[in-house]
Parts: sequence; C-alpha cells; structure tokens
Amino acid sequence: MKIAIGSDHGGFELKEQIKHYFDNLKISYVDLGTYSKDSVDYPDYGKKLGLAVMNEDFDFGIGICGTGIGISIAANKVKGIRAALVYDENTGRLAKEHNNANIIALGGRTTTREQAIKIINSFMQSTFEPRHQPRLDKIKNIEGNE
Ligand code: RB5
Repeated sequence: MKIAIGSDHGGFELKEQIKHYFDNLKISYVDLGTYSKDSVDYPDYGKKLGLAVMNEDFDFGIGICGTGIGISIAANKVKGIRAALVYDENTGRLAKEHNNANIIALGGRTTTREQAIKIINSFMQSTFEPRHQPRLDKIKNIEGNE
C-alpha cells in the first residue's frame, strides 16, 4: 500500500497528523507538500496530487485543504481522477464502493484527526462494487468529449 498525500496551508496540520499516524503503522506514503503553514494555492497541490496518482505507482491519494472542496475540484480536472470529498465513515466507504475514488479529499478546518483516521480506514477497508462500473465508464466518456 502506497499513498500520495498533499495539502495546501489549510490542510497542512491535518496532513502532518495523518502522516504521524501512517508512520506509527508503517504505512507507506509520499508527501507532495505543502511543507509549512505559509499560504499557498490549493489548485497547485490538487494538480500535483492528481498527476502523481495518475502517473506514478500509488494506490490512492489524500488531498487536504481548508474544507477539502478546493483541492477536490482541482484534482478532478486531471484526466482519470475521481476525487471524492468525504466527511464521515459512511462517505469514506461509499467513495470506494460506488465511485472507486482514487483520491479522497478532507477538510483540515472541518475534520478532526480522529475523524480523518476513521474516514481513511473506512475507505481503505472497502471494496469497489463492480455493478457501478457502467457509471464510471460514463464519467470517462465525459472526459473523452473534452
Ligand atoms: C484557503 O484559505 C482555503 O480557501 C482553502 O484551503 C480551501 O478551503 C479551499 O477550498
């Protein structure tokens, strides 16, 4: 299991907390930044995360900004990305089961460390249900029409 994780300044603190959790469990990840609380622009990190998930050897990505909204919008502009804004265990599970999300987005200002860990675990422990594949194919078709 290898995870890409990226945030803007609004998600920096939660990113560091999640990394600490992964370190304790020896879960492998790559931190794509940002690396401080200095103000940056979430589209830069959404793009970087999206490209890494599409082009490198990651199982999935975690994107964090203040709300998770901006970084999910940005990441979803990368072809092939299905970034899901998740905010509880149920949406964490459904993002995998129904949407086969390859990025989950969290809000550093809206989600606690404990909640984030529950959400991530719920996503990781779930399995995509192939009956939803035709819908994902339709999403892919939208990209093809760009
Ligand atoms: C940055 O202040 C904030 O706008 C950003 O982190 C995010 O919440 C945007 O969606």
